[in-house]
Amino acid sequence: MGKTRNRVVAFFLAMCMLLSVGAVFGSQPAEAAKKPKLSAKKMTVYIGKTKTLKVKKNGTKTIVKTSWKVSNKKIVTLSKKKKTSVKLKGKKTGSTKVKAVVRYRRKGTKKVYKTTLTCKLKAEVYVSPAAKKKANVKKATTQYSSLAKLAEKHGMKLGTVVNYGYMSDTNYKNLVKYHFNSLTAGNEFKAYSLLDQQKSAQNKDGMPVMNYAMADAIMDFAKANGIKIRGHVLVWHAYMSDWFFREGYDQDKKYVSKAVMQKRLKYYIQDVITHFEKKYPGVIYCWDVVNEAVADSSVGNDKRNLRTDNQFYQILGSDYVEQTFLYAKDVVEDLGADIKLYYNDYNAFFAAKREEICNLATSINSYVKDDSGQYRKLCDGIGMQGYIGGYGTQTGCMNEAQIPLIKTAIEKYASLGFEVQVTEMAVRNYSGSTKNMKTHAEFYKKLFQMFIGINTGEDKPLKAVSIWGLFDDPTLTQGSYGYSMNGPYCGLFDELYGVKDSFKNVYSVLK
Ligand code: GLA
Repeated sequence: MGKTRNRVVAFFLAMCMLLSVGAVFGSQPAEAAKKPKLSAKKMTVYIGKTKTLKVKKNGTKTIVKTSWKVSNKKIVTLSKKKKTSVKLKGKKTGSTKVKAVVRYRRKGTKKVYKTTLTCKLKAEVYVSPAAKKKANVKKATTQYSSLAKLAEKHGMKLGTVVNYGYMSDTNYKNLVKYHFNSLTAGNEFKAYSLLDQQKSAQNKDGMPVMNYAMADAIMDFAKANGIKIRGHVLVWHAYMSDWFFREGYDQDKKYVSKAVMQKRLKYYIQDVITHFEKKYPGVIYCWDVVNEAVADSSVGNDKRNLRTDNQFYQILGSDYVEQTFLYAKDVVEDLGADIKLYYNDYNAFFAAKREEICNLATSINSYVKDDSGQYRKLCDGIGMQGYIGGYGTQTGCMNEAQIPLIKTAIEKYASLGFEVQVTEMAVRNYSGSTKNMKTHAEFYKKLFQMFIGINTGEDKPLKAVSIWGLFDDPTLTQGSYGYSMNGPYCGLFDELYGVKDSFKNVYSVLK
């Protein structure tokens, strides 16, 4: 009896040792741990359409045989059953699963192993992305009041971005005209888009010639739907055609003199502001006159800390921003137009840059005096670009500590007599996980609570918030400019224009 018991104990101990050795070193060599897998664990199959499910070797040597079986043949049927793939066809709306019993060989052995793999299946009627967008837009515009109308109660416009391509997207147009009352064109109003090199070079009087066709298409849409436009932007050193600064508008010739450049720029500004105001009176309610003139790192003793490495600065001189505002103000006053003039920049809520922008804006407004000896207010407002969060990386995104910084900046600009807009806003987010989407919605809620808090008094300094990161775009590839600028999951709407929790939170804060 005692002996038998000892043997049992010894056997038990030996087994324990074996198991624990296995646990430490891996009970099987690495090769052996590998198993084939299916190309998907979950799949949606459309009624009447076929999809392929594959068996992947996943580091094993060969697939010997696979037997396929679906749990409910009324929902999905199988055909072309091969050892490495099967065709699935949707029959009826519902859920089921497909089971694959796979026999395979591992590397270094002739033995045949067996594993059972499953994939969950959902069969549904196919709806094209365009039809989904249409249905989502319908929901967003019938189940909710207009965001812009709600924002109006807080003294601000609600804006978004538009480009020429969107003019043929009915779903986009329907969504935007319902929820927004301010539009900014991504690029179509910038000098590099408007300037026509060939015609400028041929022009007898030496002044530049513009092509307004694409910008006008956007103006037509805005006018027809009672939406206002932020003119963006008259002078920006980036995205600029170098030939504009050269003799005969010829890339191969030398740069023109300051006097010639002043004449060209003055003419350009006059023509652009006048064209839109005459053809579409009152549609443009503000212009970004100069964009991003302030440098990121310190460039010297200039309190405005201007970038110097561009032709505007180098040809027109260190007061090119002030000159540009003067040209623009003169045109607006001559036209008697109700157009506010803005200076627009990014990182405008970080203390150092904020102070430099304040210095620049103050300098613009103490540049020239009127007949009664008072300084002319050439700059009416500050546009704070609203890219919030890490550039191209999740680190630093949706950091609530930035909300008070934005608030302080708005208050600071307002205290100097400027109106303020948050322009080009994207609450960056690089992950579509449930957790991140929740944090994104929460961040948006706190941000808009702060915005409406700023405007509770009489002054209402925050005139508009323009959301540029309006839709998710999971197709953006990491490292691309669009990916880094906005983040693929920055939207109030998903990629099929469906409302996200971020939209719902903005909605309930404004309501
Ligand atoms: C700046 C400009 C915008 C746009 C972005 C890039 O912020 O002001 O008009 O060009 O860069 O998307």
